Amino acid sequence: MAPAKDGESHENKSQTNDVRRNNIIAAKAIADAVRTSLGPRGMDKMIQTADGEVIITNDGATILRQMSVSHPTAKMMVELSKSQDVEAGDGTTSVVVMAGSLLNACHQLLARGIHPNQVSEAFQLSCNKATEIMTEIATPVDFNDRDTLIKCTTTSLSSKVVSQNSSLLAPLAVDAVRHIADSQDSNADLNMIRVVRKLGGTVDDTEMVEGLVFSQKASSSAGGPTSIKDAKIAVLQFQLSPPKTDIENSVIVSDYQQMDRILKEERNYIADLCKKIAKTGANVILLQKSILRDAITDLGLHFLAKLKIMLIRDVERDEIEFICKTLQCVPIATADGLRAEKLGRADSVQEVGTSDGKIVKILGVPKPCKTVSILCRGSNKLVLEENERSIHDALCVVRSLLKRKFMIPGGSAPEMEVSFRLGEYAKTLSGVESFCVRAFAEALEIIPATLAENAGLNPIAIVSELRLRHAAGEKYAGINVRKGCISNMSEENVVQPLLVSVSAIELATECVRMILKIDGVVPVY
Ligand SMILES: Nc1ncnc2c1ncn2[C@@H]1O[C@H](COP(=O)(O)OP(=O)(O)OP(=O)(O)O)[C@@H](O)[C@H]1O
Ligand SMILES: [Mg+2]
Repeated sequence: MAPAKDGESHENKSQTNDVRRNNIIAAKAIADAVRTSLGPRGMDKMIQTADGEVIITNDGATILRQMSVSHPTAKMMVELSKSQDVEAGDGTTSVVVMAGSLLNACHQLLARGIHPNQVSEAFQLSCNKATEIMTEIATPVDFNDRDTLIKCTTTSLSSKVVSQNSSLLAPLAVDAVRHIADSQDSNADLNMIRVVRKLGGTVDDTEMVEGLVFSQKASSSAGGPTSIKDAKIAVLQFQLSPPKTDIENSVIVSDYQQMDRILKEERNYIADLCKKIAKTGANVILLQKSILRDAITDLGLHFLAKLKIMLIRDVERDEIEFICKTLQCVPIATADGLRAEKLGRADSVQEVGTSDGKIVKILGVPKPCKTVSILCRGSNKLVLEENERSIHDALCVVRSLLKRKFMIPGGSAPEMEVSFRLGEYAKTLSGVESFCVRAFAEALEIIPATLAENAGLNPIAIVSELRLRHAAGEKYAGINVRKGCISNMSEENVVQPLLVSVSAIELATECVRMILKIDGVVPVY
């Protein structure tokens, strides 16, 4: 390689510095955008999508998902929040705020001439130490202890729009997860909890149903039944309507006799299908939605009504697996496959009236039942959707406690404790490493500072007092947002899963290290 000409290497270096700086600025802008929504006194965001839809939310992952960002590192922040959502379900705002603050620290370290690799390694070291400290201050949770689980879930709900309903939603989420998993399990499959949205009523009407709920009413326009006791349920994936010709073909009907013949044929075909269904003993049909043709015609409705078979149509394809698991039955894909042993059983299938239309409930499903439904209510679309997102966060919190059965206090107590002890640890190190670890420790103070700021308190006064309290050994001291002072978070019952905090700090560090290591952007068109 030819030796660099005078000035050339300097130019290259300043270019890579520019790339790094731009990357950091773009990512920090994202963190700043969600900062105000952290904590129980955090603000909500109103998001207007391109097609005019409005979303009101406090959930970091949802806000970022809707943002249309174009800078590659800004996209990394969006991905960061998504990965926290997948890993822990909660803490999606904290993780981004933390990453933003760590990037800020990087910015200053780099400006002092420290090499990015040194910063990156020191940050990894600090992260490992931080998770160690968090694990140390964590207390074990017994998954059978319902009250403790409810406390953790209430903390997670306290920052949501629906926080005033947390006394209903928190026990509901805990019971739902405990229904599908027990304390020996190390994970819970949240797909086994189906959240059904139904507009109308208030959030207080949200309920857990041990069985199935459909937001649509029974199809009884031809006079079919709307309530069945001792139900035998067939889950049908084929259509109760006359077959269509291929696209290329057309049938030309030229006289009335032929027309009559076709109509008669159609009648016989559908009557035959309905009789076959009745022969299996089924008295309720769950009919899958069809995109090819009508799932059922008026004629089909008429025959089913005559046979006193209740029909629930427009069942989505992706619901079939959940339904079959709940009813312990097999879906029937063709008319030839109609057999009595494929039917599911339930004590009752009934249409229930709500303030905004009717719904269908299937109760008394076979035991043991490892699935559960949650009927989510809200007086308007915005509240309803936010209610659903909050329930999702609450369920994730309970799952996190199952995955890792430890909890830590909230209200920024763990971040402050880690910050203090990392600062002490930095004193045992030397040189650049010590400098970087201290910067990492100070960067974590963003969480108490933001919580205080959002609650209308003085961040500098609060953070310095917190620092003093932790130095004095009060490891559970955190910000009591409601009273506007500092208190023992454990006594205030503000607790959260260890997994949420640990995963936030790990993912944020990983993302920051990744951004730090980029020294060039190569556009490929
Ligand atoms: N009652 C409370 N008092 C003090 N701090 C609280 C209280 N409830 C929650 N917190 C703190 O608020 C922070 C969580 O805020 P928030 O729920 O808005 O964001 P997130 O969990 O990071 O993201 P998201 O919920 O949007 O996924 C945590 O640090 C938690 O300890
Ligand atoms: Mg939260």
